[in-house]
Amino acid sequence: MKIGIILGTRPEIIKMSPLIRECEKRNLKYFILHTGQHYSYEMDLAFFDDLELPKPKYNLDVGSGSHAEQTGKIMVGIEEIINKENPDIVLVQGDTNTVLAGALTASKMHIKVGHVEAGLRSYDRRMPEEINRVITDHISNYLFAPTKIANDNLLEEGIGRHKVFMTGNTIVDAVYQNLKIAENKVDILKDLDIQSKEYFLITAHRAENVDSRERLEKILKGIVALQKEYSLPIIFPIHPRTENRIREFGFSLDGIRTTKPLGFLDFLQLEANAKLVFTDSGGVQEETCIMGIPCITLRDNTERPETLEVGSNMLAGVESDSIIQSAKKMMSEEKNWLNPFGDGKTAEKIIDILRIR
Ligand code: UD1
Ligand code: UDP
Repeated sequence: MKIGIILGTRPEIIKMSPLIRECEKRNLKYFILHTGQHYSYEMDLAFFDDLELPKPKYNLDVGSGSHAEQTGKIMVGIEEIINKENPDIVLVQGDTNTVLAGALTASKMHIKVGHVEAGLRSYDRRMPEEINRVITDHISNYLFAPTKIANDNLLEEGIGRHKVFMTGNTIVDAVYQNLKIAENKVDILKDLDIQSKEYFLITAHRAENVDSRERLEKILKGIVALQKEYSLPIIFPIHPRTENRIREFGFSLDGIRTTKPLGFLDFLQLEANAKLVFTDSGGVQEETCIMGIPCITLRDNTERPETLEVGSNMLAGVESDSIIQSAKKMMSEEKNWLNPFGDGKTAEKIIDILRIR
């Protein structure tokens, strides 16, 4: 069996890494196709270096663009490579334009598609990711749902039971595999001159937050209000989309400790030692939940309701008052929830399923 692993952005490299390692370990026939949706060193190559992954066999170098432009370019590039490689199955992960383009192209070429992290729903069609997820799920042959909620979402939408497998999320594998490595390889707290549990960590990059002048301004005001309330350092590794918008809107970052996007080992260590994490990222909501760190999500909804159920996460939206009240509440509560995203053996399970069938 030949597997095509399609990826293109930071979170896909991280969440595909356990599957790549599993293919290597079992000496399987596979290739990595990078679409080049992310291309800056800190959003791309840094993760191949950090995670010691083999370099992709193909890189389409599609770069940034409008949704149609990016999705279309990826489809054209993937078609050519599928024709050449003729894989038995392609795997896509998550909900980016790379995922939609990969699944759509492969399924039209009658190549089987496995969707890793299937069944997530925010029920908010204004998010491009929600459209990508729904379409990808409905054209995939293997749906690897991370949790019972995701599994049930798929069944409720009429997707055949035989296609759906509850496997956990590969992010648990990635966290378990890399947290120890991080301890030995990096010391980001020392680099930033901060103490464990004495700082807040923030990330924000969702288009619906940072492309809106009003919402981004509110998020930055909320961060400044937090700083006033707690007098703790606030570390903000800035995603390139957010950096561009802050510049375009002419917003100030005074009082906030910003950094470039960080490598995975550095970022994992920062999360694991934070007092509290504020984010609109999907992966960060999961990682904080897995590592026992409280999280506040700067959104009005989430496709990760498991984190709300277990109590690791709260939705605060972007208003300062709500951010401060949520922070107070999260810091006053006990942190002993169970991780709902699996046992760290998701990649093993996925490859077993593909090889059994
Ligand atoms: C994409 C995904 C989003 C995911 C995120 C992970 C879609 C629709 N969105 O959003 O679901 O959560 O990746 O981080 O697929 N840029 C660079 N260097 C890069 C990449 C991007 O400078 O390596 C800048 C460009 O100005 C670009 C902007 O960031 O226009 C946005 O990049 P894009 O890939 O379109 O979307 P993301 O916001 O990264
Ligand atoms: N991440 C990282 N460095 C950073 C910020 C995030 O390595 O500076 C990692 C984080 O640990 C998580 C992933 O990037 O695994 C999340 O990616 P992102 O927030 O860009 O996308 P999303 O998960 O929202 O799709």
